[in-house]
Amino acid sequence: MEELKTPHIPVLLKETVDLYKDIKDGYFVDCTLGFGGHSEAILEKYPHIKLIGIDQDKEAMEFAKKRLSKYSNRVEFINKRASEALKELKGLPISGILADIGVSSYQLDNPERGFTFDSDILDMRMNPSQDFSARDVVNFYDRQSLEEILKKYAEERRYKKIADFIVKNRPINSNRELSEILMKAGLRDKKQLAPVFQAIRIEVNNELKELENILDEAEKISQEGSILGIITFHSLEDRIVKNRFKEWSKKCICPPEAIRCECGGNHQKGVILTKKPITASKEEIAKNPRSRSAKLRGFMFKGNR
Ligand SMILES: C[S@@+](CC[C@H](N)C(=O)[O-])C[C@H]1O[C@@H](n2cnc3c(N)ncnc32)[C@H](O)[C@@H]1O
Repeated sequence: MEELKTPHIPVLLKETVDLYKDIKDGYFVDCTLGFGGHSEAILEKYPHIKLIGIDQDKEAMEFAKKRLSKYSNRVEFINKRASEALKELKGLPISGILADIGVSSYQLDNPERGFTFDSDILDMRMNPSQDFSARDVVNFYDRQSLEEILKKYAEERRYKKIADFIVKNRPINSNRELSEILMKAGLRDKKQLAPVFQAIRIEVNNELKELENILDEAEKISQEGSILGIITFHSLEDRIVKNRFKEWSKKCICPPEAIRCECGGNHQKGVILTKKPITASKEEIAKNPRSRSAKLRGFMFKGNR
C-alpha cells in the first residue's frame, strides 16, 4: 500500500491507548478522528472492538479513510459535528469514547484554512461547509461582544484596546491584516498574537459549548464500563472536563448547605480514572512541541445510572 505521510502527530498516543486497557467488546467512538492516528493505534491494540470515526472536516476524514483501510470491516465514518453524530449512536454497545479536542496541525498550518497569522484569508472554520467564519466575528461583532470573547477566551487584559483597534480598522480581510492591526494595538510577537487568534477560533467553532455538548451526549450513550477519554489543549477546556468528571463521580448531590444527605447518596455515575491529568513527557514535547499543553483525563461509567 502507498505510504501516507501524516500531517498531524497524535499527542499522548501511548497514554491514550493505555487508558482503554480494560475496554469491553463493542464500539469505540473517536469523536475527533482527524488523521486517524489515535484510531489506528486503538484498532491495532484492541482487536475485539469496532470503531466509529467522527470528524466535521471532510478533508481529514478522507485521509483517515485511506489510513484505516486495512481495518475497513471494523470501521465506520460519520462526517458531522461530534455532538450531533453521538445522538445517532443511542442503543449501540459503546465501550469507549475519545475526544481529542481542538484543531489539527494540518488545519493550523495550512494557510488555505485561514488559521495562520500570515494567511491571506480570514477563516478559522474546522468545518469548511459552515457559513459562519472568522470574517464575521472580526468584521461584524459589536465592540462589547469582541471585548467579551477576548476577555473570556484569550484571558487578555488589554481586551478593550484590542477590540477598539479591530472595530476602528474595519473592514479586515485577512489574518495578515488582523496581525498587523493587533501589533499596532501593542501586541509584540506571535506568542502574544496566539491567544487572540485562539479566542476568535473558539468563537467561530463554538468550541467550549461543543465540548459541553459532547460530554452531555457521551454520558447519554455510555453503559456499564464505557470509558471516556478527553484530551484538551487549554485551561478553559480542561476546567470544563475536570468539573464534569468531578460532578459525575459525586455520590451525594444534596446542596452544600444540607445538614444531612437526603438524596440517597447513590448518584455516582462512575469513577475518575485519572486523579491528575496525564501530560506529555519531555521526550514527546521535544518531538512534538504542540503536545506541551495537552491534558488527558479519563472516566469510567457504571451501569444503572
Ligand atoms: C486534534 S485533531 C485530532 C487528531 C486525531 N486524534 C489524530 O490522531 O489524527 C482534531 C480533529 O477533530 C476535529 N474536530 C474538533 N472538534 C470537533 C467536533 N466538535 N466535531 C467533529 N470534529 C471535530 C477537527 O476537525 C480535527 O480534524
